[in-house]
Amino acid sequence: MTDTDTTDQVESIAAAIDAVVDVVARAAPEIRSGLPGRRVAAEGQNPSGETQMAADVFADDLLCERLGALDGVGTYASEERETAVDVGSGVSVCVDPLDGSSNLEPNAAMGTIVAVYDGPLPAAGRDIRAAAYVLYGPITTMAVAREGSVTEYVIHEDADYDVLTEDVRLPDDPTVYGFGGRVPHWVEPFEAFAADVESDPSLKLRYGGAMIGDVNQVLTYGGIFAYPTLSNAPEGKLRLQFEGYPVGYIVEAAGGASSNGRRSLLDVEKDDLHARTPVYVGNQELIDDLESRFAE
Ligand code: F6P
Repeated sequence: MTDTDTTDQVESIAAAIDAVVDVVARAAPEIRSGLPGRRVAAEGQNPSGETQMAADVFADDLLCERLGALDGVGTYASEERETAVDVGSGVSVCVDPLDGSSNLEPNAAMGTIVAVYDGPLPAAGRDIRAAAYVLYGPITTMAVAREGSVTEYVIHEDADYDVLTEDVRLPDDPTVYGFGGRVPHWVEPFEAFAADVESDPSLKLRYGGAMIGDVNQVLTYGGIFAYPTLSNAPEGKLRLQFEGYPVGYIVEAAGGASSNGRRSLLDVEKDDLHARTPVYVGNQELIDDLESRFAE
């Protein structure tokens, strides 16, 4: 809600967010049960040049159809399609239908991410009004951030869902870290930061290869997740509109911090729908330390 939004606009955005969250939660068991036969590559690549799995395409089609049908949703965009789809008038919804789908073959955790923006795409980070992710782990859970707080739900097989934890906060004492990217491609400031993290006896490595799984453990145990800038990919791997903004918004709403190495992810601006950004999220003191390395 911007300063100029009227009460009606504020209410209609809130109603659209309720509806988006409800659709994503209720679609989750269907997406999950659709995975077993779809652990194979589809024909195409996504706009970032990655091989699409049949499950990516399935989840994208399903969410586009359901979210696109909602009153109050104007645009649907996803990591799996080149351009945004005009579906009516209202908020812009950006989705990563199946985050970490390379974990399909080894049967490890994956997620679905959704971000709701009050504005056209590509949106600015400060246009984000809500973000949520579903985590397909041993159980299916969902974290929803809006209005500065995060609620965690459990989603049942019959698509009903219940609150597990209100006002989720990162624990004060961090214990886990997970860093992506090939180590030989880490740049010197990050290498130095990682070496200090690795030598801290209160921290241990936990990296699963699906951002949502890795971020959810930071939310649970405290710590830091990074997909850093790389010498061969200065903007890293993760996409700002679909991954960077929503995860930054969620972690900040849970009392943590987010960064691209220099500033909050929410203050990073890019004019390409599929633009990438380095992503660092976690406890404030770890992000402060990380940023100080890039400032040197
Ligand atoms: O969306 C990209 C993604 O699957 C993220 O979920 C994850 O953090 C990252 O890629 C893993 O990349 P890598 O295979 O390089 O560790």
